[in-house]
Amino acid sequence: MKPEQEELFEQEVEALIKEIHTQYGYDFSGYARASVYRRIRRFLGQKHLQSIEELRRFLFTDSFFFENFLQEITVNVTEMFRDPTFYKSLRENVLPILSTYPFIKVWDAGCSTGEELFSLAILLEEEGLLGRTKIYATDINQKVLRQAKEGIFSASHMAAYTSAYYAAGGKRDFAEYYTSNYGSVKFNSSLVRNVVFYPHNLATDSSFNEFHLIVCRNVLIYFNRALQERVYHLFDESLVSLGYLGLGKKETLAMSGISDKYSFVDKNNRIYRKNS
Ligand SMILES: C[S@@+](CC[C@H](N)C(=O)[O-])C[C@H]1O[C@@H](n2cnc3c(N)ncnc32)[C@H](O)[C@@H]1O
Repeated sequence: MKPEQEELFEQEVEALIKEIHTQYGYDFSGYARASVYRRIRRFLGQKHLQSIEELRRFLFTDSFFFENFLQEITVNVTEMFRDPTFYKSLRENVLPILSTYPFIKVWDAGCSTGEELFSLAILLEEEGLLGRTKIYATDINQKVLRQAKEGIFSASHMAAYTSAYYAAGGKRDFAEYYTSNYGSVKFNSSLVRNVVFYPHNLATDSSFNEFHLIVCRNVLIYFNRALQERVYHLFDESLVSLGYLGLGKKETLAMSGISDKYSFVDKNNRIYRKNS
């Protein structure tokens, strides 16, 4: 694209972002632009659309089309036991402390299609804590939340997920947790009996409870600094004193306004504990 075409494309995308906010209430103004531009271009290609104007027409006349667009912009890629050392560290450094509490509240923010949620539930189950834990699984995208609730994943991933489960310190036969059925597997619904699935937008919604552990991985990388800062304050408001925040390898509290209030539990996996 020539520089002037590039500039026009960016201006049109900015106008579109404003219109989406007005029409649908989703605020993407704080999303990192490089990723938004790349994804919109890809979406135009996939749908064989020639211009932002053409995209606009579909977005505002077809809510199903908008849901597909939302899926593209919000990036739902996920895995079970993604970065297994993160889970191993939760198991070794966090759950033993939480096990001394009578009741545990966990927030899985940006849970996508549920692979992270089921991994957390399995961890809690194996440490004998699932029965007294309530997990709030939230995401901006209602479609992925519906999938998360079902706990059905493609069988083609199971070899990799099984290895990751053992690398995360898995204690049982992983196959105990699911039943296979024609190319897919369904995880036992008992794992999510204490889970509340809830649409929540980290860009605009407020704190809704107090938690002992918040896990939010591979979400903030898509936000600009100002929106990341908003979300860090939201998490800070939502954590009890001495609560844990698990961000994973890609994000850090380092430059944020709340970093002084937190200490590292695991520097590599960016697991923090709020000071008392
Ligand atoms: C790349 S996935 C990460 C999933 C999972 N946490 C993991 O690490 O495997 C990012 C998720 O964040 C969600 N998301 C994006 N923007 C959001 C927002 N403003 N509020 C809540 N969730 C959001 C997306 O819908 C998507 O499901």
